[in-house]
Amino acid sequence: MDFTKKMLRDDALAGKTIVVTGGGSGLGKSMTKYFLELGANVAISSRNLEKLQNTASELENETGGKCLPVQCDVRNYDEVEQMLNLVLDEFGEVDVLLNNAAGNFISPTERLSANAFDTIIDIVLKGSKNCTLAFGKHWIDKKTINTSILNIVTTYAWTGSAYVVPSATAKAGVLAMTRSLAVEWAKYGIRCNAIAPGPFPTKGAWDRLLPGDLKDKFDLAKKVPLKRVGDHQELANLAAYLVSDFSAYLNGEVITIDGGEWLKGAGQFNLLEAIPEELWDQLEAMIKAKKRG
Ligand code: COA
Repeated sequence: MDFTKKMLRDDALAGKTIVVTGGGSGLGKSMTKYFLELGANVAISSRNLEKLQNTASELENETGGKCLPVQCDVRNYDEVEQMLNLVLDEFGEVDVLLNNAAGNFISPTERLSANAFDTIIDIVLKGSKNCTLAFGKHWIDKKTINTSILNIVTTYAWTGSAYVVPSATAKAGVLAMTRSLAVEWAKYGIRCNAIAPGPFPTKGAWDRLLPGDLKDKFDLAKKVPLKRVGDHQELANLAAYLVSDFSAYLNGEVITIDGGEWLKGAGQFNLLEAIPEELWDQLEAMIKAKKRG
């Protein structure tokens, strides 16, 4: 099966302008590329302008679309407002905000400084809040309808996870914001949805979250019932659908795309998967014997 197949028809996002925070690399870049292929104008933002410029010209050459690099640290509300104004100057209007920018590192929580904890909360929760508030205020003020916000969260936004506590805390907040505003801002024609991706390898996150030989020790594909990691195009397909008009009735939803990974960790008896087929005959006989006795 080819997981790199593109899902939507070529003009599915024609006429839309999309802002992707953290769009210079990783999954943000992959989603940006597909949006451009589908006819959208895309602005990508991050702190590193040079990286953004390189990505924008690479993707413009590959897709023939229009990609605007905008330097912006989402932690600062003023910079977010400036980003919005630059996008409006360039494209006239904006239709979609994709809150993708994130920061994360693995650490026992007691080893973190207060500033380390804040850094992640500020990028993930405050950054998503800053962008959401600035774009939402603009759309409501200008009475722009048929707009949407797509937030990238994670499956541990609802389960929590040890060793990435600032990220888990912040992503839980982003999920709550998604569901709250889906209701509150629906009357303004703003939809809010989220994607919770499982393992989709990117160089940045992988080197950060599984440094050194941890990558070999914890083969994440093994934790997934489907026994593989995700392909970037599979995530891009879902994101494109969620920001397109085809999903106009989808609001307040978080869609998990993880091959069943988080449920495998959750189900009490899922560990019985380790039992080989031949042992089940013995186990069944033992259980039935117990019942008879
Ligand atoms: N373990 C513990 N503390 C850490 C840490 C680690 N691995 N990495 C950074 N910190 C601490 C720093 O020591 C500092 O705290 P201090 O001032 O008390 O010493 C604080 O976190 C801020 O670090 P700094 O490097 O100044 O922050 P930054 O704003 O430049 O960048 C990140 C922090 C996480 C955003 C940065 O690592 C980054 O750019 N990551 C790329 C994006 C990313 O993480 N993507 C993954 C998505 S899953």
